[in-house]
Amino acid sequence: MKAIKYRGNNLYLENAPIEKITKKVITPFYLYSLKQIKDNFNYFRNSFKQTNPLICFSVKSNPNLTILKNLKKLGSGTDVVSIGELQIALKAGIDPKKIVFSGVGKTTEELDYAITKDILLINAESENEVNEITKIAKRKKCRVKIGLRLNPNIDAKTMKKISTGGKSDKFGISLEHCLDIFKKNINNNNISIEALSVHIGSQIKEIIPFQKTLNLIDKFIQKLKENKINIKYLDLGGGMAIPYSDTEKKFNLKKYASMVYQFNKKHKFKIIFEPGRYLSANSALLVTKVIYIKSIHDRNFVILDAAMNDLMRPALYGARHEIVPVQKIKNKFNKKIEFVGPICESTDKFLTYTNYPKLNQGDFVCFTNVGAYGRSLSSNYNIRPLPAEIAVYKNSYRVIRPRQKLQDLIK
Ligand code: LLP
Repeated sequence: MKAIKYRGNNLYLENAPIEKITKKVITPFYLYSLKQIKDNFNYFRNSFKQTNPLICFSVKSNPNLTILKNLKKLGSGTDVVSIGELQIALKAGIDPKKIVFSGVGKTTEELDYAITKDILLINAESENEVNEITKIAKRKKCRVKIGLRLNPNIDAKTMKKISTGGKSDKFGISLEHCLDIFKKNINNNNISIEALSVHIGSQIKEIIPFQKTLNLIDKFIQKLKENKINIKYLDLGGGMAIPYSDTEKKFNLKKYASMVYQFNKKHKFKIIFEPGRYLSANSALLVTKVIYIKSIHDRNFVILDAAMNDLMRPALYGARHEIVPVQKIKNKFNKKIEFVGPICESTDKFLTYTNYPKLNQGDFVCFTNVGAYGRSLSSNYNIRPLPAEIAVYKNSYRVIRPRQKLQDLIK
């Protein structure tokens, strides 16, 4: 994580000493660098400068209102997947003409609301959904712009549990069926299919799956043209990986950008991207306190006050989030240690280290790169309040979403 460094023995996020914040805020808490998100957005936009895409931040990765407001100021749109995400995007001031709505199971209420708000695109994921949108639009006596989400049957070469574009995944529509839906709806007065969308998975490290997707879309567009069907938008989804440790290689965004530019020279679509993780992941830490340290048999556990409910990714996907101490410690544990949370589940465990700095009860550590799918995946399991979200501000901090109140959970 670029935004953290030690000054003397203290860990800083930008210019804010983390230990100082731990004296004021109950742990665990999420700690953000809003500057990092801004830098990420600008880097993304500059990399794709030649294509000039609409960048729709994927709200599911981080729906914090302050973060969305900051992204809005930079010109971002949003990708939403529920009425709640749509409402928070609108509340943040995102222009409805920069909002795309995906999801396999949008309800009539959600579709109706999205149509009323006149958002840029509803990306339909089944023929049933296309028909439902037609019904609503007929009732409202309007014509709705939609996209069709393709399931290209491409292996994204990422973790199985976060792949979305394969044969066995529930997402999107097969190419043949998609063509069929296009043809059937050519004369539909209530919808016009103006976009194709695709999202093959998340944390995709290699360029090849993206290249394969573009090749396949290219062929599909040919077929559409043969049937005199033209589209205006191509939504390429998100999925670009970030390195979760110093040894992991970076995703080659510039190379992807030049591939998309070459592809689009021929087609001249308005390109849309829906990055989530790439913009938000490396902006945050989860700060937590060591409650106890204990050994059982030959195992040594460091028990934190953060648990799987606060950071689900390790338990859910086996994801690795490195843990760094808030105070530099010279001495090392002379044994292997396992970081675990206090929840009554054996999967409530994080990383295991050898030669880790010798922590003591009451010390603080931080999980790194938790700005995407961190707080947004957290739950109230074990009646644990959701942690506060704090943003560093100069050498201090601001609360950008307070910790949930325990009283509210035991009503
Ligand atoms: N667009 C669509 C339609 C999506 O389904 C997703 C993510 C994105 C965009 C953003 O993908 P990103 O750029 O963040 O990779 N909870 C998992 C990740 C699930 C992603 C689901 N869809 C995790 O923590 O790794």
